[in-house]
Amino acid sequence: MFELKKLTNELTLVRLQTRLSGVLSYGTFVPLLGDVLIDSGFFRARRSLARALQAKPPQLIVHTHAHEDHIGNSAFLKAAFGIPVFAPKASLPILKNPSIMAHGAYRRLLWGVPDGLEANPLPDTLEAGKVRLMVIPTPGHAHDHVVFFEPERRWVFLGDLFLSAKVPCARPYENAMDLMDSLRRVIGLRPKFAFCYHKGVLSDPENALKAKLAFMEGLMEKILPLSEKGMDAATIARKVLGQDPWLMHAISRGDFSCVHLVRSFLRPPGEGYELPNIALF
Ligand SMILES: [Fe+2]
Repeated sequence: MFELKKLTNELTLVRLQTRLSGVLSYGTFVPLLGDVLIDSGFFRARRSLARALQAKPPQLIVHTHAHEDHIGNSAFLKAAFGIPVFAPKASLPILKNPSIMAHGAYRRLLWGVPDGLEANPLPDTLEAGKVRLMVIPTPGHAHDHVVFFEPERRWVFLGDLFLSAKVPCARPYENAMDLMDSLRRVIGLRPKFAFCYHKGVLSDPENALKAKLAFMEGLMEKILPLSEKGMDAATIARKVLGQDPWLMHAISRGDFSCVHLVRSFLRPPGEGYELPNIALF
């Protein structure tokens, strides 16, 4: 299933959903800005995406990061439309061989596993027709994460930087210190509109991003002193965050967990992103 949300003459959001992702209230909003498709949805939605783009195929694809719900259809679209794909340099090995990422069973079921492809490294500023996008490094959610900033209208395409103001859990390979720095960097751009890959339009992005940063700083102020006293991550998680959100924890079999979030605060910047070369389940 897809839905086209035409926001302006230049910007359309393609909302993708499958039956299963609908049951889990999980959708994606893939932006098409001019001729540039920003990320490409998840593999299981490939037929919907192809239908959505039939009338006006993109001329190129850019990626915010290499999680499989963002790169799922790039190989397919590259072959179908003969278009180039650009991604952060650190994403390129994963795009070439997506199986090096740890795909848990729930991820394979919900999103599918993308085909590999050769992509080009993103420049610092990307120009395509009337579209000009600055590439802003924003690690934390993933080591390779970037956002795209359109400076004339102060639009920012957030990928998975935001997700929600209060995310009480994380996956194992995240770094909260990097994420907070990334939020500060994007808040400093004073964006007027922002587009979250899973929430859609954020009409007051500065305050939304500030609320997320405040939530994370509040957690940090609680977590670090407890860790300095010698408390382990699981005990800190129970004390500060309570129980894992049960549905998320059950479906992901612990991949999403409060303990992972606590650990993500205890890592130095730039660390903790190493992916095991195995399937988790
Ligand atoms: Fe992601």
